[in-house]
Amino acid sequence: MNLVLLVWRQENARAVGHMQRIEAKDISPDMSFLEMLDVVNERLTVAGQSPITFDHDCREGICGSCGVVINGVPHGPQPGTTTCQLHMRHFCDGQVIVIEPFRARAFPVIRDLMVDRSAFDRVIAAGGFITSPTGSAPDGNAVLVSKGAADAAMDAADCIGCGACVAACPNASGSLFVAAKISHLGLLPQGQVERDTRALHMVAQMDAEAFGSCTNHGECEVACPKGISLETIARMNRDYIAASITKRPKTAGSGGTG
Ligand code: SF4
Ligand code: FES
Repeated sequence: MNLVLLVWRQENARAVGHMQRIEAKDISPDMSFLEMLDVVNERLTVAGQSPITFDHDCREGICGSCGVVINGVPHGPQPGTTTCQLHMRHFCDGQVIVIEPFRARAFPVIRDLMVDRSAFDRVIAAGGFITSPTGSAPDGNAVLVSKGAADAAMDAADCIGCGACVAACPNASGSLFVAAKISHLGLLPQGQVERDTRALHMVAQMDAEAFGSCTNHGECEVACPKGISLETIARMNRDYIAASITKRPKTAGSGGTG
C-alpha cells in the first residue's frame, strides 16, 4: 500500500504544532497501525529527520498507552479496537490518513502524538483503591458476590485508561473513565467501605483537573475500545448524589450525618 500521512508534529507542550505530510510507501496491509509508524520512523531516522513520537506499550489492546486520533476518530475507524490492534488492511491504497494526538486540556501534548495522561493517575490516587488488609489469598467462597454484580464490575474493570472517551467528547469530559473506575470497585462487597468517599474524592479530583462536564453526547461510549457503557456514568452519578447527602460535612443545624 502507498499512503499519504498528515501527521501532527509539535516539539513540546508550549511549541506551536503543524501538520507534516509524509509519504508512506510499500506498507503491508498486515501491519498494525503502530508497525506502519515504526516503518515510517525508521525511514525518517535514516533520512536524518526526527521520528514521530507516539505512545505505546503492550501492543495487545490491554495497557491503554497507545491512542491517536485517526481521520478524526480516537483509535481510528474500527469499533472496539485500540490503535495498536488496528491493521492497515482497514485502509485503502492511496488513502490520505490524518493522525493527531488526543486533544484535551487535561492531556497536554508532550511531543507530536504523545500526550500526558497523568490526570487519570491523580483521579485514581484520589480514591481508586480499597483498604482491606492484604495477606494470603482469601478463600474464593469467603465473600459471596452475586452474578449480576460480578458481571457489571468486570465490565467496568475492562477500562484500560486510554483516554479515547476524553478525546471523543466535545467537552473533553473524563466521566466515562472515572465512572468505570468508581463502578469497578463500588459494585463489589470489598469496595463498600470507601464507596461514598471514593465517589466524592474521585469526582472532586476529576473536577480539579481540566476535564469538562458530561452533557450526555454519548461520543465517549462510541469511541471506547472496551465497550464501557453510558450506564456506568448514571451509576457514578447515583453514587455521587447519595454520598453527597450521607457524607455532607456537619454544620450547625444542618442535621448532616458527617
Ligand atoms: S472508558 Fe473506554 S475510552 Fe475511556 S479510558 Fe476507559 S477504556 Fe479508554
Ligand atoms: S499499546 Fe497497550 S493498548 Fe495499545
